[in-house]
Amino acid sequence: MGELIKIENLRHTYPGYEGREVVALTDINLTVNQGEFVAVIGTNGSGKSTLAKHLNALILPTGGRCLVNGIDTTDAERVWDIRQQVGMVFQNPDNQIVAAVVEEDVAFGPENLGIPPAEIARRVTEALELVNMEEYRHHGPHLLSGGQKQRVAIAGVLAMRPKCLVLDEPTAMLDPRGRKEVLDSVCRLNKEGITVVYITHFMEEAVVAHRVVVMEQGQISLTGTPAEIFSQVERLKTMGLDVPPAAEVAACLRKRGLKLDKNIISDEQLVVALCP
Ligand SMILES: Nc1ncnc2c1ncn2[C@@H]1O[C@H](COP(=O)(O)OP(=O)(O)OP(=O)(O)O)[C@@H](O)[C@H]1O
Ligand SMILES: [Mg+2]
Repeated sequence: MGELIKIENLRHTYPGYEGREVVALTDINLTVNQGEFVAVIGTNGSGKSTLAKHLNALILPTGGRCLVNGIDTTDAERVWDIRQQVGMVFQNPDNQIVAAVVEEDVAFGPENLGIPPAEIARRVTEALELVNMEEYRHHGPHLLSGGQKQRVAIAGVLAMRPKCLVLDEPTAMLDPRGRKEVLDSVCRLNKEGITVVYITHFMEEAVVAHRVVVMEQGQISLTGTPAEIFSQVERLKTMGLDVPPAAEVAACLRKRGLKLDKNIISDEQLVVALCP
C-alpha cells in the first residue's frame, strides 16, 4: 500500500502570548498508508489537534515537513489540492453546518470547487448514502440529533471525494448512540477504501483502528496495533490515559489469577474468553 501521509521530524511552535512560545510538537515521524485507519490518542494538550491541522495544511511546520500524497504542505500553490484530498471533521457539528437544508449543506464543498450541477447531485446522493442519511436530505439540520448532524458534516467532506478523512474528536459532544452512529459510518468509509485518521479520547473507539498512535507532550510515545497498545494497561494509566473497559476488566481478572489472553481489548473478545 502506498504512503498517503508522510511526516518527517515535524516540529510546531506557536508564537503564544507575550513572546512565550509554546512548543506543541517535536520530532514527529509518522507515515499513514492508503486505506489505513489510524487512531490518535493522548491526554489534553499533548498535540493531537495540532498534528491533525498539519494534515491538510491548516497550519504549517515550523520544523521538518509534512507530505500529503507527495505534496509538501508548504507548497502554497497546491494547498487546495491538499485540502480536497484530506478532509477534516471537527468536534462540534453545529460549527460545520452552513446551509438550512441537509442536501445544500453537503453540496457546499463541491459547489466551491466549481463542479457541474449534475455531478454535484450525484456526489450529494452518494455521500448521504454512505453515512446513512439519505432519507434526511430535505430536512433542516437544526432538527437533527448530534450524531445525525455529525454524519451530515462527514457527508459534506465526502462530497469533495477525499482520499483521507481526519476526524478530531468527532464524537466528543455526542451521546452514546450518536457516537456509535458516527463510528460505524467511519468504519464503513474505511472499508470502502478511505484512509482515516481518528483522534479520540474514547479508548473503546480506538480499538477498532488498524494502528494506534499515542501522543505525550508533543511527541509520539507509543505506536502499535490496538492489542499491542491497550494491553499495556499500567503504562497507559501512568500516562493519565484510560484503557478500554474490556482491557481493564481483563487485567483485573488476570491479577486475580484468571488465565486470560493479554490481547483482550474489546467487549466481544472478553465475552468469548469468559463464556466460550
Ligand atoms: N493557537 C495556539 N496558540 C498557542 N498555543 C496553542 C495554540 N493551540 C494549541 N496550543 C498549545 O499547544 C499544545 C498542544 O495543543 P493541542 O490543541 O494540539 O492539544 P490536544 O492534544 O489536541 O489537546 P485536547 O485533548 O485538549 O484537544 C497545548 O499546550 C496548547 O495549549
Ligand atoms: Mg484537541
